[in-house]
Amino acid sequence: MATATLTEDQLKAKVQDGYILESPDEMTEGYRKALIVQLMVQGDTELMSAPAYWMAAQDAPSTNTQVSAVAIIQDELAHANIAYRILEDMGLDKEWLLYGREPREFKHPYGFDQPLENWAELVTANGFFDRAGITLLSDVYKNTSYGPLKRALVKVDMEETFHLRHGEVWMKRLAKAGGEARERLQRAVDWMFPMTVEWFGLPDAMKRHSGQLEYRLKGLTNDELRQVWMASTVPLCASMGIDVPAHYDEAQETYVLDFPFPCRYDADAKHWLFDEGEIAWDEVFERWKARGPMNERYVEAVQRSHFSVRRMVEA
Ligand SMILES: [Fe+2]
Ligand SMILES: [Fe+2]
Repeated sequence: MATATLTEDQLKAKVQDGYILESPDEMTEGYRKALIVQLMVQGDTELMSAPAYWMAAQDAPSTNTQVSAVAIIQDELAHANIAYRILEDMGLDKEWLLYGREPREFKHPYGFDQPLENWAELVTANGFFDRAGITLLSDVYKNTSYGPLKRALVKVDMEETFHLRHGEVWMKRLAKAGGEARERLQRAVDWMFPMTVEWFGLPDAMKRHSGQLEYRLKGLTNDELRQVWMASTVPLCASMGIDVPAHYDEAQETYVLDFPFPCRYDADAKHWLFDEGEIAWDEVFERWKARGPMNERYVEAVQRSHFSVRRMVEA
């Protein structure tokens, strides 16, 4: 009997028991839909990190450091291809995924709709955003019930570790340099720390049931993932004397935020409006849906060659 004839509940029970699916033929409709959403978020995040990092790489302090940044961008494009390739196995069209969608239809986090304008912002993105990527993807790697994705993530994880190291080494270097370099680093951390905290999404207490957990496409909840991320980034920043709005609470044995969460963001000023207090998550979802200031430019930057090459060929 093919697994596809299982009901949703039967498949959920089977994967919770450790069963690994090896092909789309084995998926129920619910499983297929949940995996498509997960892979689209993953692929789009990798893809949109490329134009964001490219923008900041223009501010690299030297040719060799710029080449390191470009090597990271190349990895990210390959990671996007891995996610889209698996989506292709599931019947989606890669051409449509890359070139057929409007900027607002991409599913990457709001953080990658922001301009990365200098080297300090690039390396903080490596230290924070790539750390978020590792946190999310290593959980998927450990827990996913889809075999082809699990195997593909081995390469992704090794390369992400390089991106993260690049970020952490450079953050430390800028902190140590002092002066303007250190101030730029602190300013980058000020907007990017809350941005990454928000990236992990709704708190568990508010989260409706999660198909991704039930189908075992991931293992940890949003709050657990947020804690894993803070457990690395809060001590990292403390070791450099860089301030972050969070601390470890000994009594609760957990990282606690020192700002109203969630809260408003002024994207033009790159500034979180802590003074205006906590807002409803619906307002956050509206901001995400409206997308950030670089959304159209970044999507245009990756789609541009497709249309100009087509025009060249058709001329
Ligand atoms: Fe990546
Ligand atoms: Fe990366």
